[in-house]
Formats: sequence, C-alpha cells, structure tokens
Amino acid sequence: MLRNRCRPKTMSSLILVPIRSGLRGCDRFFLLKELLLNCGQKNRSGIISGLACRYVIVVVISVVLSVANVFAGHLEPFKSVPVPKANPQTAEKIELGKKLFFDRRLSGDGTMSCATCHMPELAFSDGQDISLSYPTTRNWRNSPTLINVAFQRYLFWDGRVETLEDQALFPMMSAFEMNKNLDYLEEQIRQVPEYVAAFKKVFNREPDRERIAMALAAFERTLISVNSPLDRFLKGDEKALSDDVGKGMDIFKGKGRCVQCHGGVNLGDNKFYALNVPENAALENDPRVTATVRFVGKVYHYKDYRSLKEDPGRYLITKNKKDWKAFRTPTLREVSRTAPYMHNGVFNTLEEVIDFFDAGGGQGNHVLKPLGLSADEKRCLKAFLVEALAGEELGIKVPDLP
Ligand code: HEC
Ligand code: HEC
Repeated sequence: MLRNRCRPKTMSSLILVPIRSGLRGCDRFFLLKELLLNCGQKNRSGIISGLACRYVIVVVISVVLSVANVFAGHLEPFKSVPVPKANPQTAEKIELGKKLFFDRRLSGDGTMSCATCHMPELAFSDGQDISLSYPTTRNWRNSPTLINVAFQRYLFWDGRVETLEDQALFPMMSAFEMNKNLDYLEEQIRQVPEYVAAFKKVFNREPDRERIAMALAAFERTLISVNSPLDRFLKGDEKALSDDVGKGMDIFKGKGRCVQCHGGVNLGDNKFYALNVPENAALENDPRVTATVRFVGKVYHYKDYRSLKEDPGRYLITKNKKDWKAFRTPTLREVSRTAPYMHNGVFNTLEEVIDFFDAGGGQGNHVLKPLGLSADEKRCLKAFLVEALAGEELGIKVPDLP
C-alpha cells in the first residue's frame, strides 16, 4: 500500500512524504523508517543513490530525535474539568463545599479553615515558604495553589493521594495542620441546622466525613484558571500575547525546554523529578519543622526517621531509590501569585527559579542541563510566566457561614 501511494523519487520528496501524510507522532516516524528502508533497497529509477540515502538517514534521524526532544510536551488551552461519576457537580453541593472550605469548625481549636493556608487572593496558596500550621507546630512543605487542582492526577508534592475526595480529610486530621478529630467534627456539624438541611438536600443524608470531603472536592473543582492570555492565544487570538511574552513562550517551548515537563492544560505532566532543589534550612534548624519531618517519616515507615533532616519526597511513598527527593511537577497556572516557590518555598521570586533551571538545576541532579539563557531571554521567559498564565479573577468571597 505504502509503495503504491507515496514512493519517493528525490531526497526532498522522501522527507516531505511523512510530513504530508497527515500522520502524527510515532506513526509519522514509522512511515519515515519504512520509506528509508525501502529507498536503500531497490530504487530502479536510481535517483536516490545508496550513499546519499545513508546520508539522509543520519540527518533525518538526528533531526527527528532533536525535534522529538524539544516538543516532548505541548501546551493546551483550558478544557472541561474532569468530574468523577460518583461525585457529580451540583450548584448546591458546590455552595455547601464552599461554606465548609471557609469554616473554622474544621480545625481542632477553631482558628483555621482550609482558606487559612489556601487564600483566594493568593490563588489559594498562603505566601509562606513553609506553610502555616496548627498553633505550636510547624508544617514542613509549601502550600500549593488549588487553582486547576481538578486536573492533577496525583495530589500533594509527593503524589501520595489520587482524588480530591480522599485528600480533603488529610489536613483536618493532620497534627500539624488542622488537628481535628473527625468523629468530633461529624457531631459538631450535626448540631448546625443549616448544615443538616444542606446535607439532606444535597446527599439525602446527615453530615458525615465522606460527604464533607465530597462537598469540599466539588467546590475545589470550580477553582479553574480561565481565559488567560495563553488560552486566548492557543484558541487562535494571535494578538493575545505581547512581543516579549510571545518570545518568552518560544523559550518556554524551545531553548528553555520547560514544556517537556510543564505541558498540557495544567502546565504540568503529573510526573515526579529529583531536581535537587536546595533544602530549606528550617528542616534542620527549627525543632518544630524537624519534629514534623520525623513524624511524617515515621508514619510512612521510613526506617531511620529519627535522623531524618531532609525531605525524601516521593521516596517516602514508593521506597523506590529513583524517587529519592523527587517531587511532582507543579502547575504553573497563576504562578505569579503563588510565591515562594518549590516544595519547600526556597525560592522567593521567579527570577531565582529561572536562574535555578538556567544553571541546570540543583547539585548532582541527573534530570536538567544548563540552558545558557541570556538576560533578555530570562526577562521574556518571566514575562510569559507572569502575564500569559494569569486567568480571570474568580472573585470568590468568604460566604456567610451558619
Ligand atoms: C495549615 C495549612 C493548611 C491547611 C489548613 C490546609 N492545607 Fe491544603 N495543603 C497545605 C500544604 C502544606 C499542602 C502540601 C502538602 C504536601 O504536599 O505534603 C497542601 C496540599 C493540599 C492539596 C493538594 C494540592 C496539590 O496540588 O497537590 C489540596 C487539594 C488541599 N491542600 C486542600 C485543602 C483542603 C480542602 C483543606 C481544608 C480541609 C486544606 N487543604 C487545609 C496546607 C494546608
Ligand atoms: C524535568 C522536568 C522539568 C523541567 C524541564 C522544568 N521544570 Fe519546572 N518544575 C519541575 C518540578 C519537578 C518542580 C518542583 C520541584 C521541587 O519542588 O522540588 C518544578 C517547579 C517549577 C516552578 C515552581 C512552581 C511552584 O508553584 O512552586 C516554576 C516557576 C517552574 N518550575 C518553571 C519552570 C521553567 C520556567 C522551566 C524552563 C526553564 C522549567 N520549570 C523546567 C519540573 C520541571
């Protein structure tokens, strides 16, 4: 079939066939391979000689490999939010979830709500290097944005949970976050007539921990970055990006190789990498943080938890050596509002983050290579991160609480 349809006669037509074939990705590559194998064999017209053909093979394969490398990821505009069948979105459920999200009853001493560490005005992060915590304790990681969290395949920096429904109970129970006893919480919420009525209407049941988590998850699925300049550009509005921002996007996709990991709708690939980001000194110097690190190490059966002074990342979950200090690629949506950056907030500014990637990442990492960006390229890359990825204001206000 292949031979009849598109047997190439010259070198340029040989290269053009796969491009014009309408095939994509691997299919294109296999068609090219097929053509190259054929052309080396019996080309009766003799236009492509055996030697020239071998030359073409070398050139084409190197081009294909480098192009595949640069465009391993790609950017996608906003698309509809994935919703699990077992927890469909309804307006009443979202409203109930929003109330619970802002309700301080969810913490042991009544001082904290989810919004204490996920503030609407900071794209649902909290502006601290290491996040806030229950009084007298300290957290150990940076509070990530909840914008576009519905698109995450794995939750938390180490990906230890996979659904928003499962995630929501963790901070409530955690000794260094909300420190709430869930049996007590259920009884407390059952004493609030407005909540009892709302749970009856939404779930046809009385309040319990699973339904509290389901309502919170439904609300979180509405926290979406919409209509950013990048979305408008990807949908065809060529004027959506200024010249500098456009240059920044080219660096993001090309020389900077950012899109390899920060691709798709969420500018994240749901994978884990050990970039060897420097440790936050607090892990060693602040006894409260050290206690938290060792406590989490113990909970996750880390053998030497009593001497743990660093964050083992995904290793804690998988116990696989390759995951030592590996963290999930974060979304970059709304990134200008989510400083400080990285799992431990060691970088205060986007300039510092860009310098880190430009230098080829942290000491001894096997993932990144130096990029050699000029000062102007760095400036444009930052302009892209700040301007192109900022969506419309969601306008979420603290609701009236019962
Ligand atoms: C005391 C601060 C604090 C409070 C209160 C808090 N969080 Fe978080 N949240 C964090 C931190 C820190 C992380 C990251 C922890 C990690 O990765 O190990 C996180 C992670 C998350 C994530 C995962 C995000 C992602 O991209 O993986 C979700 C979802 C989330 N929180 C929702 C909630 C909800 C819902 C509540 C209320 C029930 C809540 N949080 C209360 C600090 C807090
Ligand atoms: C090999 C995959 C990979 C590549 C390539 C990559 N990143 Fe990242 N990026 C990550 C991971 C993983 C993290 C989190 C690391 C951590 O906390 O230890 C991250 C963190 C970030 C953050 C911090 C976000 C936050 O909310 O804390 C920014 C900003 C960022 N990257 C921008 C870039 C830019 C710009 C480039 C290109 C110059 C780039 N990244 C290239 C994987 C990658």
